[in-house]
Amino acid sequence: MIKYAHITGTGSFAPEKVLTNSDLERMVETSNDWIVSRTGIKNRHLVQNGTGSSDLAARASQIALAKAGLDAKDIDLILLATVTPDQPLPSTACLLQDKIGASNAAVMDVVAACSGFVYNLSIAKAMIQSGQAENVLVLGVETLSKLVNWEDRNTCVLFGDGCGAAVVQAKDEPGGIMHTYMKSNGSLADLLMVPAGGCKVPLNEENIKNGARYINMAGPEVYKNAVKAMGEAGSIVLKKSGLSGDDIKLMIPHQANIRIIDSTAKRLGIPMERVYVNIHDYGNTSAASIAIALDEVIGKKLIDKGDKILLVAFGAGFTWGSIIVEF
Ligand code: UT7
Repeated sequence: MIKYAHITGTGSFAPEKVLTNSDLERMVETSNDWIVSRTGIKNRHLVQNGTGSSDLAARASQIALAKAGLDAKDIDLILLATVTPDQPLPSTACLLQDKIGASNAAVMDVVAACSGFVYNLSIAKAMIQSGQAENVLVLGVETLSKLVNWEDRNTCVLFGDGCGAAVVQAKDEPGGIMHTYMKSNGSLADLLMVPAGGCKVPLNEENIKNGARYINMAGPEVYKNAVKAMGEAGSIVLKKSGLSGDDIKLMIPHQANIRIIDSTAKRLGIPMERVYVNIHDYGNTSAASIAIALDEVIGKKLIDKGDKILLVAFGAGFTWGSIIVEF
């Protein structure tokens, strides 16, 4: 009998240290007014040196497991989305597995930038429905402050660190992760990337000096693509499920820019009162953004049983995707 993939517990964690817009005013030529009006961001959280994505992931995982009423040993699959792994090898998922004692799980990292959490929920559903997993721990986690050039005002005001986790379980009861959509376009990779630090272009003195080890972004181009792709992703998954924007209790979009969120909501016919926004508190946390927002939405009891929510993501690659979840 077909199983349904239900989200049974969520958790999130952001480092204690907060960097405000006034702090940034003292670091680069910028202003609180510019940052708030162009992006919606007020604060972002930053890890201390020596803290990695696996550490944030362990904190969020423990909360999600407790909420789901599971022990780490019950997890048979961990899907961890990040572009900021602790180290090149092994996967951050392996490091997390050891930290939380999920000794019965197969684990892997998924690299899909800001779409990583949505990609992972889609994969979790497929693994559950094909009978290959029962209890999946899904994470979106980033320590982007380590990839930011703190002298580049075009990017340093935007990003933050954090983690969100969700336990996805096989259940007989209909509902859960219903319809999913994933898409990518590698031909636009150059618009948002970290050019150096991999195996083809390893770090050296020159690329450290010229900023190639940091996030390089053609902001306005990325912006245009984000609006188009998030609108497309939302419409496709609504159509697949036979729903309209009116049927959606809450949309949780990737939190990159309040103006992108606003345009996406307009394209999908969803008023901003039914869109969850927390970009002011975290900035853009890439794979973690929807995961943290989902945990907050559940924690604040903004959704009831039977409600349908829409997740819409877009990120480097480019990658984009969307999901309808029925609670
Ligand atoms: O998560 C993955 C996806 N990422 C995104 O979706 C991000 C997409 N892009 C964006 O959100 C926006 O493009 C940005 C927030 C990055 C930039 O906003 P914009 O309205 O597109 O600004 P812009 O890049 O066109 O720059 C406008 C002006 C420029 O000055 P001039 O050339 O007009 O004199 C920039 O130099 O704003 C200037 N500027 C700043 N001024 C103050 C750029 N950054 C700053 C800053 N403070 N931090």
